[in-house]
Amino acid sequence: MSETGSSSAPIPNGEGSSRHPGNKVTVVLGAQWGDEGKGKVVDLLAQDADIVCRCQGGNNAGHTVVVDSVEYDFHLLPSGIINPKVTAFIGNGVVIHLPGLFEEAEKNVKKGKGLEGWEKRLIISDRAHIVFDFHQAADGIQEQQREEQAGKNLGTTKKGIGPVYSSKAARSGLRMCDLVSDFNEFSERFKVLANQYKSIYPTLKIDIEGELKRLKGYIERIKPMVRDGVYFMYEALHGPPKKILVEGANAALLDIDFGTYPFVTSSNCTVGGVCTGLGMPPQNVGEVYGVVKAYTTRVGIGAFPTEQGNEIGELLQTRGKEVGVTTGRKRRCGWLDLVLLRYAHMINGFTALALTKMDIMDVLPEIKVGVAYKINDKIIPHFPANQEVLNKVEVQYETLPGWNTDISNARTFDDLPVNAQNYVRFIEMELGVPVKWIGVGKSRESMIQLF
Ligand code: GDP
Ligand code: IMO
Ligand code: MG
Repeated sequence: MSETGSSSAPIPNGEGSSRHPGNKVTVVLGAQWGDEGKGKVVDLLAQDADIVCRCQGGNNAGHTVVVDSVEYDFHLLPSGIINPKVTAFIGNGVVIHLPGLFEEAEKNVKKGKGLEGWEKRLIISDRAHIVFDFHQAADGIQEQQREEQAGKNLGTTKKGIGPVYSSKAARSGLRMCDLVSDFNEFSERFKVLANQYKSIYPTLKIDIEGELKRLKGYIERIKPMVRDGVYFMYEALHGPPKKILVEGANAALLDIDFGTYPFVTSSNCTVGGVCTGLGMPPQNVGEVYGVVKAYTTRVGIGAFPTEQGNEIGELLQTRGKEVGVTTGRKRRCGWLDLVLLRYAHMINGFTALALTKMDIMDVLPEIKVGVAYKINDKIIPHFPANQEVLNKVEVQYETLPGWNTDISNARTFDDLPVNAQNYVRFIEMELGVPVKWIGVGKSRESMIQLF
């Protein structure tokens, strides 16, 4: 594809341009509390993709991709960059910690061949906000203060996500376009912002000159990657046919508006974030794939109605190796929650699902699925907004027989035992969304495609 901006895409001039809706983007979104296996689904779809985009979040995300037994982990870079033919795009809705970006790339370059030439294949929107070291430090201080003042924190990843989106909303943030323009102007605004942080958090130590020097050191490397993101997307959508993927980070229940507030992240991880985070119209959104883990996990604090604080939860945690990619924390585990998934589907309008980690449930004699929430013995039709209410709901379960068989070598739906097939069909029926893929292992091959 054209990387230079010279393309046949016509600039919209009112009449005519709207008659050609252009290419559609395929979206992959987390449908639960994160770590559903989005990286693996994106990797699969990226095999024949031209562009893979990130539209929100920052390096709080942790996406694992296993290729030829090498495990890569991505935080800020779109996972699809592992395909050497892919152009990766970081949209305006993403927040970028530059040292983190280079560290991540260098770490993955050492692991295998997948990241060769990454610097030439990465485009960054000039409207994306920059995460500074003091945003990360402030994230840590805020967590400490929450602990001291309210007795509990949010369990953030301490990557500066809350603070940087706060700076953005407060209109005092700095963007990639500022860094690559007049550095004196950038430095002045950086100092104002740093001093604001110092006055809010007196214990915060900021090495203003040191950080500015380090940022200046990135300019020459980053400049060729920084583009007008809106025009980049416009060209991609209206030039020759292209396969464009959008890799969601975090997940529906961590969304700043729709998640289990306040135990959420600070961006829109639902489908709306695609348009605002890339600068593109909704009519160019095509397939919206929801990634659903066959059970439920959550990292950090917050309500979790189907959580199993017992041997079932421990079994899922150990068998599923449920440890956070970004923070190394153990993930809390529980049964699949269809109430939560119905809610995520109301917001995102999934066109199909990827059901991952079915193999982890191989040893369970029976499997429970949360199908409804009750308050005072009455089923409620919605997903409660209030955390105290959500903490109190009583979950109504359906019990399904397990399959007690190793399914890791299954490659077609027919290879699966009947009880495993029934588990999939039950989920499809309850949600009214077809399951397109079933994950039975970590590798690329361990993904059954149904249609
Ligand atoms: P993401 O944040 O949604 O991309 O997911 P993570 O990478 O944080 O966590 C998912 C984990 O599950 C990774 O270690 C994947 O390699 C692994 N995984 C994904 N799909 C499957 C599957 O179907 N079976 C098994 N056993 N592991 C899987
Ligand atoms: P991926 O993309 C799981 C959680 C954190 C914390 C809360 C707020 O790998 O699925 P933040 O640092 O964003 O302010 O933390 O959100 N969280 C995630 N949990 N997977 C993620 O991303 C997450 N991103 C944020 O654990 O509870
Ligand atoms: Mg993850």
